[in-house]
Amino acid sequence: MNYNEIYELESTYASGGVGRRPIALVKAQKARLWDSEGNEYIDCAAAQGWANVGHSHPKVTAALHQQADILVASQESSYNDQRALWMQAMGGVLQDSFGWAECHLHPSNSGTEANEAALKLARLLTGRPGIIATMKGFHGRTMGALSTTWNKKYREPFEPLIPGVSHVPYNKIEAMDKAIGDDTAAVIIEIVQGEGGVHPGSTEYFQALRQLCTERGALLIVDEIQTGVGRTGKWFACEHHEIAPDIITLGKSIGGGLPLGVTAWPKRIGAFKSATHGSTFGGNPLVCATSRAVIEVMAEEQLVARSAQLGEWLTQALRELPSEQIREVRGLGLMVGIELRGKVTPVLQQLIKRGVWALPAGLNVLRLLPPLVIDSADLEEVIAAIGEVVA
Ligand SMILES: Cc1ncc(COP(=O)(O)O)c(C=O)c1O
Repeated sequence: MNYNEIYELESTYASGGVGRRPIALVKAQKARLWDSEGNEYIDCAAAQGWANVGHSHPKVTAALHQQADILVASQESSYNDQRALWMQAMGGVLQDSFGWAECHLHPSNSGTEANEAALKLARLLTGRPGIIATMKGFHGRTMGALSTTWNKKYREPFEPLIPGVSHVPYNKIEAMDKAIGDDTAAVIIEIVQGEGGVHPGSTEYFQALRQLCTERGALLIVDEIQTGVGRTGKWFACEHHEIAPDIITLGKSIGGGLPLGVTAWPKRIGAFKSATHGSTFGGNPLVCATSRAVIEVMAEEQLVARSAQLGEWLTQALRELPSEQIREVRGLGLMVGIELRGKVTPVLQQLIKRGVWALPAGLNVLRLLPPLVIDSADLEEVIAAIGEVVA
């Protein structure tokens, strides 16, 4: 099918909720994308942040094919070998990062669902109603998670949302100090605000927040749906600040391209009571097999270290670009934001013409989230293309 045919057909049925670029992507490999007209792009978006191990990684594809012939979706109410093995692998990663000798895992199907589970768990375990989120934070679009997302554009048409949620300025500990009280079940936060403009918080802030939550009996939910799985040069961005969350949420890259949300917490804080939460497809054998392959690839190809090294080099190279248009380059690892003096949309359009697929973060930030397997030669092309566009 050519672009016009795909566009006509999809537009006939699309919900209207998602804005799309006038391009139909039909194929992807490693860090390259192809459209229906045969044009090739360097993927600097990891397809919206989910392709940290790259597209169609042979190990992930092999796990997918192998498991597809055996058992795709099982019953939530039965045990399963793939889920058990995945839990062991995921638990191992969490133990290495946070020292959680024993943890609970709730697999679901998306980032927003991972946050729904975290919010429900926090209310259940503390018996308190209050949730504190941050301005410019993004946590998803289902009613509970949406209540913690800040941008009015996403929230207002759907109000009233769940009660008990407040938003405080990000990276300002005085605001958290005032807000966290006896009725606070949880604080939900990103370590680097992704959608909000690629804003990293400081170590001082996160350590003080960790302490406040502990002292006041509120649970600290860290949303690593975008920052997790090596994106920032550590398995989890929390590790940059030497803090452990009470509940961590993952999505995007952890499934290797298949839908998987993960809510994880150490056993010491408690667990869901039977039948208080669940999901028909969450933790199905197929996605557990691909996710375990992702965890193995991360270790075998040392992608966490690669993200740290390439990220540092990329950020530095972007900072050296001679351009009046660039106000600031910031980020962690291969999560990079370029704040512009003007709007980002024309820059994205120009980049597409030069074969680079990137993302916006707000109105004036160009966000780069390349697959961690990207070649440095590809990144050199990206830097040159950005240099031309912002010159
Ligand atoms: C930090 C963060 N939390 C939650 C979500 C929601 O994830 P999903 O789109 O899989 O529901 C996103 C998606 O962009 C995200 O970046």
